[in-house]
Amino acid sequence: MYKIKHKQDLLFCPGPVQVANNVWRAASKSMGHREQEFSKLIANLNDKFLQIYEVKNKSKYYSVIITGSGTAANETVLSSIVGTKHVLSLINGEFGERLYNISKVHNKYTHKLDFAWGEEINTAKVEQFLKSHKIGVITMAHHETSTGMLNSIEEIGNLAHKYKSQLFVDTVSSIPAEKIDIEKWHVTFCSTSSGKAISSLPGLGIIIGEKKVFEELKGQPVKIVYLNLYNLYHFSKTIMQTPNTPGVQLFYALDQALNNILKSGIEKWRQTIRERALMLRGGMRKLGLKFFIDEWYMSSVLTTVIPPKNITVDFLKKRLKEKRIIIYNGKGPLLNKVFQVGNIGELTKNDINYFLHSLKDVLFIDNKQSIKTHFITKSTTFNLPMSVQYMKK
Ligand SMILES: Cc1ncc(COP(=O)(O)O)c(C=O)c1O
Repeated sequence: MYKIKHKQDLLFCPGPVQVANNVWRAASKSMGHREQEFSKLIANLNDKFLQIYEVKNKSKYYSVIITGSGTAANETVLSSIVGTKHVLSLINGEFGERLYNISKVHNKYTHKLDFAWGEEINTAKVEQFLKSHKIGVITMAHHETSTGMLNSIEEIGNLAHKYKSQLFVDTVSSIPAEKIDIEKWHVTFCSTSSGKAISSLPGLGIIIGEKKVFEELKGQPVKIVYLNLYNLYHFSKTIMQTPNTPGVQLFYALDQALNNILKSGIEKWRQTIRERALMLRGGMRKLGLKFFIDEWYMSSVLTTVIPPKNITVDFLKKRLKEKRIIIYNGKGPLLNKVFQVGNIGELTKNDINYFLHSLKDVLFIDNKQSIKTHFITKSTTFNLPMSVQYMKK
């Protein structure tokens, strides 16, 4: 019999995620942000982001990094790009809705089209709206993390192009686990964050867009100071610095995380995340669990699961936490109705086996017996994960 003695939580949530040891090590570097080395780092990060987004015409695009989470990147765009343009937010979950709520604060001409959570965005309805309103900017989430649905950007991009609207896509939880072709799909700006599928420490927001559009922001009335997109772009582009003191260590960690992705190859990185998702889904299906959306629509990043009727999400979370596994509750209307299992960051197949085995125990043993300490028998076929220490009883 092995008694589990835990050292560190296994993060099966869609961010923050477990990061590689070399990312931790990179974060221990310190550097004055007005030094040449830091400017070089910014230039390298810009180049690497263009690679991560698989931009072909690199001379036309640029990326800006902000010290702040994904929401900071989103608010930077929404407070800086719109001027007096009308904005249309497409909503089929929490994160599409957040874009709408942020935009409303900065722009009274913000409209929305609501779709049910977990339902596809209906392009016919979007087109109808665009025909009858002059919309300057469309906003949407690529991966709607609250449901796990991967929204189709291409169709909306074609509509944005047809109706001469800009398209802002929140790719906070999708990049680089999912592909987005910003050039072909007419995406004006994308945002992402360091601490999700990029697998670095949280705390940096990234915006990528066409240089031409960044330049057009010059001279627009300034609505915001710290998150002013033109200012951030201008500092980065001209002197390769940030206007204010950046989270220097996070920049170094991000650089290492991007190196890890590029070294593996983006395609392979994506494939690995996909395989983990399929392994988790297969295992959970075997346990008789049902998913909130059809697997066809799911991203590779996470799975939104409906708990069996006799088990609450709180119970599941609590029992898994005792086994040092972290999962998420649902959000908004899905609170306590679903749980979410992410598979980004440094997770191994062994970790996934451990998760599935633990989930099985919680569903079929803990639920009946309500035992406090848990033991795993020698006949268990998986090895315990690196982050979980165990000892012979
Ligand atoms: C799609 C999406 N957008 C925005 C955010 C907000 O990011 P942050 O919490 O880093 O501000 C999240 C967070 O999970 C997200 O999944």
